[in-house]
Amino acid sequence: MASTPLSPMSLTFILYVFLVLLCPLCSLKKGLTVEGKETTKNYIRTVRVNSLLPSNVCSQSTRVLNRASSLKVVNKYGPCIPVTGAPKTINVPSTAEFLLQDQLRVKSFQVRLSMNPSSGVFKEMQTTIPASIVPTGGAYVVTVGLGTPKKDFTLSFDTGSDLTWTQCEPCLGGCFPQNQPKFDPTTSTSYKNVSCSSEFCKLIAEEAAQDCISNTCLYGIQYGSGYTIGFLATETLAIASSDVFKNFLFGCSEESRGTFNGTTGLLGLGRSPIALPSQTTNKYKNLFSYCLPASPSSTGHLSFGVEVSQAAKSTPISPKLKQLYGLNTVGISVRGRELPINGSISRTIIDSGTTFTFLPSPTYSALGSAFREMMANYTLTNGTSSFQPCYDFSNIGNGTLTIPGISIFFEGGVEVEIDVSGIMIPVNGLKEVCLAFADTGSDSDFAIFGNYQQKTYEVIYDVAKGMVGFAPKGC
Ligand SMILES: *[C@@H]1O[C@H](CO)[C@@H](O)[C@H](O)[C@H]1NC(C)=O
Ligand SMILES: *[C@@H]1O[C@H](CO)[C@@H](O)[C@H](O)[C@H]1NC(C)=O
Ligand SMILES: *[C@@H]1O[C@H](CO)[C@@H](O)[C@H](O)[C@H]1NC(C)=O
Ligand SMILES: *[C@@H]1O[C@H](CO)[C@@H](O)[C@H](O)[C@H]1NC(C)=O
Ligand SMILES: *[C@@H]1O[C@H](CO)[C@@H](O)[C@H](O)[C@H]1NC(C)=O
Ligand SMILES: *[C@@H]1O[C@H](CO)[C@@H](O)[C@H](O)[C@H]1NC(C)=O
Repeated sequence: MASTPLSPMSLTFILYVFLVLLCPLCSLKKGLTVEGKETTKNYIRTVRVNSLLPSNVCSQSTRVLNRASSLKVVNKYGPCIPVTGAPKTINVPSTAEFLLQDQLRVKSFQVRLSMNPSSGVFKEMQTTIPASIVPTGGAYVVTVGLGTPKKDFTLSFDTGSDLTWTQCEPCLGGCFPQNQPKFDPTTSTSYKNVSCSSEFCKLIAEEAAQDCISNTCLYGIQYGSGYTIGFLATETLAIASSDVFKNFLFGCSEESRGTFNGTTGLLGLGRSPIALPSQTTNKYKNLFSYCLPASPSSTGHLSFGVEVSQAAKSTPISPKLKQLYGLNTVGISVRGRELPINGSISRTIIDSGTTFTFLPSPTYSALGSAFREMMANYTLTNGTSSFQPCYDFSNIGNGTLTIPGISIFFEGGVEVEIDVSGIMIPVNGLKEVCLAFADTGSDSDFAIFGNYQQKTYEVIYDVAKGMVGFAPKGC
């Protein structure tokens, strides 16, 4: 294996065909009203200034998970990363770096959505990686078991991509550093290469670059800011300790770039047949949920196949976006005041791997103006970041702030009241705390509902029923 020539692989994989994913402006639904906008709810949030800053001490979720098929979710930049088999210590990127990573990811989604089905986009993987490499794949990680005997691998989970992969020995084309030992196919009795004639190999060819070496199927996938190239293979996957899936399709990565620091690869929770939800549908019925903790110093969960909680309010998954989880946003309110969003944002991608929520430029600026108006009692600061508006809270000491609550309304009368931890972000300690939303830079009806704003909800993906649900106080 060590002598497998790399050059044909690289040569073949310089061409990457983006998915042909068509959403020709999924029909705008006009005239939807924002239910709940006239409520007498208290839309003012009180927050202790100091609680905006990160903590160095891990406090595990107090909510006991008595579910069999649940994995603990940890923010890889926080203090809760597991001690045994801990990922390499990683630098916490600046807020600007998170935003840059998001922008690359958003751009890659936009390319996928604007693709004409009859044309492909060809890119040379090795040259599209920006010189200053930013972290990839999201901050939230879970640990799963792979192989026989089973070994643990910490993977970033990603609803925006499909193939699950981990770095494999001997890493022919180079790997990013990881602390857990790399997966070694020669030491697992259940590892099998996927042959070029298999159905799996045909499936991967529909959404990634694909090639063959000695009848072994190769794949290549490019992300917003990184890529993986390797052997398509099957293995025994263990979720929690009870659920074991034989012949689970995964990527045995022989070359990966982009800093996936703090992980050993990705867990693909997208919508394609090769993604984990489809591969495990016999047991989990294509249903999963997660709760992201309010703070990086706390934990959440990723659960599979659980009953949808009664408290959950559900909105349909757009059938127009075949690969991503698309929702229809029908309103946004700031302290109960509805913003003009021109009918709807019918292509709102809910994504676990994008940090911030991105809004079309007109909506983004309307949000900023309303927020600024309602925060008139605080010291506005010009800021050094791309976020606006920003405030200097450093003179408030141990006091509290009252900030306007923000709600996003989805089709079907679903109101998601953003948790107070998801409204503002400290960019430079308390000297510069900004509204944690971003601009898509376009006025098309395209938005991303990022993970920073999803915190504390249990977000339920009932793919079989075509619904996404939100239940408050999920972790
Ligand atoms: C998988 O395929 C590669 C490339 O053909 C080969 O080097 C390796 O030995 C194969 N592994 C197994 C377990 O068959
Ligand atoms: C990723 O890991 C490498 C090697 O350990 C390190 O040099 C680099 O600074 C890390 N990057 C981040 C963003 O943590
Ligand atoms: C709303 O839509 C109309 C027509 O589609 C367009 O002319 C107008 O600029 C849009 N307004 C905003 C704020 O996006
Ligand atoms: C500003 O503070 C005053 C006095 O505490 C209060 O009455 C007023 O409602 C506040 N304004 C806003 C926009 O919060
Ligand atoms: C903020 O920006 C404005 C316009 O660019 C400038 O006039 C003002 O001096 C700046 N204020 C601070 C505190 O930097
Ligand atoms: C803020 O609170 C901390 C502990 O709660 C205390 O040690 C500190 O003296 C307080 N600072 C001020 C300015 O009140």
